[in-house]
Amino acid sequence: MSAIFKKANTAVITGGASGIGLALAQKCVGYGMRVLVADWDAWGLDVAKQSLGETATTMHVDVSKTEDWAQIKSAVVKDFGGQINFLALNAGVGARTAFDGPEADIASFRKVLDVNFFGVVNGITALLPLIKEKTAAASSLESAIVITGSKQGITNPPGNPAYNASKAAVKSLAEQLSYDLRANKGVGVHLLVPGWTWTGLAGASGDKAKPDAPWTPEQVANYLEAKMEEGKFWVLCPDNEVTEEVDRKRMLWSAQDAPTGRPPLSRWREEYKAEFGKFMEGGA
Ligand SMILES: NC(=O)c1ccc[n+]([C@@H]2O[C@H](COP(=O)([O-])OP(=O)(O)OC[C@H]3O[C@@H](n4cnc5c(N)ncnc54)[C@H](O)[C@@H]3O)[C@@H](O)[C@H]2O)c1
Repeated sequence: MSAIFKKANTAVITGGASGIGLALAQKCVGYGMRVLVADWDAWGLDVAKQSLGETATTMHVDVSKTEDWAQIKSAVVKDFGGQINFLALNAGVGARTAFDGPEADIASFRKVLDVNFFGVVNGITALLPLIKEKTAAASSLESAIVITGSKQGITNPPGNPAYNASKAAVKSLAEQLSYDLRANKGVGVHLLVPGWTWTGLAGASGDKAKPDAPWTPEQVANYLEAKMEEGKFWVLCPDNEVTEEVDRKRMLWSAQDAPTGRPPLSRWREEYKAEFGKFMEGGA
């Protein structure tokens, strides 16, 4: 039986009113866990609350605000006795950003970094002390901290510099946290890197039909659970179009830009098209 996903354990999930966060909340509720869903979408929270039922509570918060994290912490202490078994720092925004033209708006850069990066920093600094304290006090207690990154934070495709930078920063943060907690056997850290997942952030809206390529949020939640059971830090989700092998090669190619002296984002440059194609065809 999982030490994390089990009856009477507790979960705090940001961005849990929709998409991947909601699927994680549904998974936890399905195991009989008590769940705190934190999100800034008041309407979405109401709908989520109805579908999640009695064992879930919802909080209307902005993860980029430290004062809102103080409220979350108080609720955790009051309702869960300070115990968090599953902390999913998942809230994110995908606002478009650009260096020039109509989307060259500093406020959008700040917004994306505030939510996607500081939302995670705030969550860790507010709740890590509780998690450490509780897992140190009871050797049978285990906790997992799941941080949602993105392949865009690893391969850095052209088109949205702030989003990519925020997710690269989140990856770096999660790696540091994993290292810092290496001696805390009761606390696992996992970087969830979804593939294309059919959510509002990635194209889903109203009754728009789901294309074949993306995974559902439930598939992502199930994949995360399986990788957590294997004790993996890296949770690199495929989707119905991009296999794990393709991802592996794309990441290798990007990482090799620096040591081989290729220009950045070479994968998307015309002059490297043939070489990249050959690389993808070969074994990695
Ligand atoms: N969907 C994809 O293809 C995909 C791919 C890679 C990474 N991701 C990441 O997955 C995570 C979840 O996104 P999703 O795809 O489920 O999209 P989503 O839009 O369904 O969910 C994001 C949730 O975060 C909430 N949120 C946004 N800003 C907030 C804030 N300041 N405070 C509190 N809540 C806030 C939103 O209200 C929403 O409920 C994000 O971090 C996203 O970057 C998604």
